Amino acid sequence: MSDRLMRGPLLHCLAEPDKDAAAVDYRPDALLWLQHGKVYKMGDYESLVHELMPAQLSQVEDCSEYLMVPGFVDCHIHYPQTEMIAAYGTQLLDWLNTYTFPVEAHFKDPLKAAAVAEVFIDQLLTNGTTTALVFCSVHPASVDALFKEAQKHHMRLIAGKVMMDRNAPSEVLDTASTSYLQSKQLIERWHGVDRLQYAVTPRFAPTSTAEQLAAAGRLLAEHKGVYLHTHLAENIDEIKWVKTLFPEAKDYLDVYDQAGLLGKRSVFAHGIHLCDRECERLATSDSAIAHCPTSNLFIGSGLFPMARLQNHGIKIGMGTDVGGGTSFNMLQTLADSYKMQQLQGHNLSPEQSFYLATLGGATALDLDDKIGNFAIGKEADFLLLDPNATDLLKFRTGHCKDWRDLIFVLQTLGDDRVIVQTNIMGIAQ
Ligand code: GUN
Ligand code: ZN
Repeated sequence: MSDRLMRGPLLHCLAEPDKDAAAVDYRPDALLWLQHGKVYKMGDYESLVHELMPAQLSQVEDCSEYLMVPGFVDCHIHYPQTEMIAAYGTQLLDWLNTYTFPVEAHFKDPLKAAAVAEVFIDQLLTNGTTTALVFCSVHPASVDALFKEAQKHHMRLIAGKVMMDRNAPSEVLDTASTSYLQSKQLIERWHGVDRLQYAVTPRFAPTSTAEQLAAAGRLLAEHKGVYLHTHLAENIDEIKWVKTLFPEAKDYLDVYDQAGLLGKRSVFAHGIHLCDRECERLATSDSAIAHCPTSNLFIGSGLFPMARLQNHGIKIGMGTDVGGGTSFNMLQTLADSYKMQQLQGHNLSPEQSFYLATLGGATALDLDDKIGNFAIGKEADFLLLDPNATDLLKFRTGHCKDWRDLIFVLQTLGDDRVIVQTNIMGIAQ
């Protein structure tokens, strides 16, 4: 029997709280009824209990001490950087040369890639991330290793081989033509297999020639449904460099636009320092930004102007950006986002934060028809959160007056200890 029945408090978003006051659905005593890994029914326990057979009543799992929430969606993360998280002392361009490129060079070795992929997927699940959009290294073997590991858990994961053909050590470079061919092979091997999808992944404009970006555009045009994943306007020196490398472009985003890289399945990490034209173009092209606050603070990139991008109507999801980011944990990532908005006089509400980490991330990845909340028929990727996970949390959450208070305390004080169970397609990991 593939049914699973869980009873307890449940919270999810039906829409974006900043746009719709009725966006949040909180049920203090819900029944979550799963069949074949998907949400079969969800509602107040008292209104659904009469639909259960007597034998099913005894199978209902008591989750009254926990909060059931959708799994977290990480819209930007680098798996080869797992072992260099928390590297001291540099900003973006130095950080790439000093730490990132040397580490990524090792992913040529399939055994190394497989070993790190295992640690990486384990960290995602331990931290409640059930879907992620992931940078691999330039080596196709790194993609195979990650997808194989995700496949073991039946995870919904999007990833791709980095494309980079200049301005880095030779061990991490490809060429416009090899990157095209290798990416094409990987798309054919992996895109649409189980819950896996492929992202065409040029690292960022400074490490790709115009020829390589055009090859990325061809891959997108030739393979409907694949994603585009890259970095955009993260750091001031990076932006100056892009201007000198692409003097004919209107601005940074235009470099990607000219190569045909914008669209509903295009995700740009950071987007901190954008002009109005770039914001408008991101919105009209239905592209998304992955907001990565722990990374932006740690490598000193700047303060993400969330309200400004929201006013332009740009889709936003959360990214941990490990290893520029300093945590795999979405709660800690939201805590840094809140503080970053405080510094700019913007109150990021608890419910909008929760949305960004769940349904908002799913929408940024064009997956909101499949994941992001407990709507009937969606894939049952969800978490049990423990409000009493630590002594301090137990003491503090005992003083919370409502669910809004509770999720804000959990995001501010919580970490992986709060995530007591991560479920993929209804199965506890
Ligand atoms: N820009 C280009 N590559 C990277 C990377 O690996 N991390 C971050 N944060 N920014 C980048
Ligand atoms: Zn990144």
